[in-house]
Amino acid sequence: MTHLFLEKAKEFSSIGFEKQAKLLLVTDENVKKHCYPLIQAFLPKHQLMLIAAGDKNKNLENAQAIWNRALELNLGRNDLIIALGGGVISDLCGFAASTYKRGTNCSYIPTSLMAMVDAAHGGKTGINLGGVKNSVGTFTNPKNIYIHVPFLNTLSKAELYSGFAEAVKHGIIEGKSLWKTIENRTTINASSFTPDFIETLIQVKLAIVEADFKESNERKKLNLGHSIGHAIESLYLEKATPISHGQAVITGIVLESFIAHAHFDLNDEDLNTILRLISTHYDWIDIPFSDDAILQKLSNDKKNTDQMLFTLPMGIGNVQQNCEVSALQVAQAIELYAKYRS
Ligand SMILES: NC(=O)c1ccc[n+]([C@@H]2O[C@H](COP(=O)([O-])OP(=O)(O)OC[C@H]3O[C@@H](n4cnc5c(N)ncnc54)[C@H](O)[C@@H]3O)[C@@H](O)[C@H]2O)c1
Repeated sequence: MTHLFLEKAKEFSSIGFEKQAKLLLVTDENVKKHCYPLIQAFLPKHQLMLIAAGDKNKNLENAQAIWNRALELNLGRNDLIIALGGGVISDLCGFAASTYKRGTNCSYIPTSLMAMVDAAHGGKTGINLGGVKNSVGTFTNPKNIYIHVPFLNTLSKAELYSGFAEAVKHGIIEGKSLWKTIENRTTINASSFTPDFIETLIQVKLAIVEADFKESNERKKLNLGHSIGHAIESLYLEKATPISHGQAVITGIVLESFIAHAHFDLNDEDLNTILRLISTHYDWIDIPFSDDAILQKLSNDKKNTDQMLFTLPMGIGNVQQNCEVSALQVAQAIELYAKYRS
């Protein structure tokens, strides 16, 4: 598997897709409108399949729709499914492809910042099931990843900030100069994300993934913000107004920082540094759910065994996985969050 930056749209004509016998390109309606026209003329003959946009559509019905379409087209393992879109499309297509005929080629063309810096890399595929995020999935790398940064020009501000949340996470994990670079960004727009900056963010993830592909230990560092974040995101998904994945991760980072400060080693200075950076870029969302509802979702989190094991920030550049956290500590962090927010 490689990832390759394509500076100009016309470079899509030279990447060798034509070696594949049949191509099924899957995308969502927003990406079809904004990104597909930029590269359509440079792609070889392909079938197009549309999925409705949004995380609630990263589901079994759409995985089945992809399997059915692949069967109709008589796609074989050596044909290719192309996922053109954000993390929803790459997670969904990656999952459908990894299970179709026990594993069919799939390449990703990430179009959101979230997918360029994070979701497309590392081989986690998945769908949401039973109200639980990513509860079914596989560890399967795509065949290739093609990154065309100009796609970011049509991404909404909210979605840019959603992707930036994973950059903040990578900055806390890495510390050093990456954290400083992120701290120095006082405003965010599409031009903030050069191929070099995106590559730096990808490398933070890949260095960890290469050491522990199946997340037996070290890779859990990348779950920073995600334990509580996924619980809140799942609860919001059940409401009519879902929040972005990045907003959920940011909220998770704040709550997990409160826990790490109150009960583990995160010192005042680093807590304040994290909170300051987050408050510069993000509104603190409401958490309109009971502690019980959040704890119930946490107990469904496949990252947890019998205990609640969280990944916590112990400092900038020092993130610790497998920290045992109690229900009371979670409830106290939620209370503190509400106090800070008001
Ligand atoms: N597999 C992993 O390791 C991993 C890591 C992080 C996140 N994820 C998953 O990724 C998903 C979130 O990804 P996301 O934020 O990209 O969500 P998304 O795919 O829903 O994209 C966000 C929105 O932006 C639109 N969009 C995408 N590219 C666009 C463009 N260039 N111009 C205009 N609109 C565009 C989409 O249509 C969608 O409405 C979640 O399901 C999350 O669980 C997976």
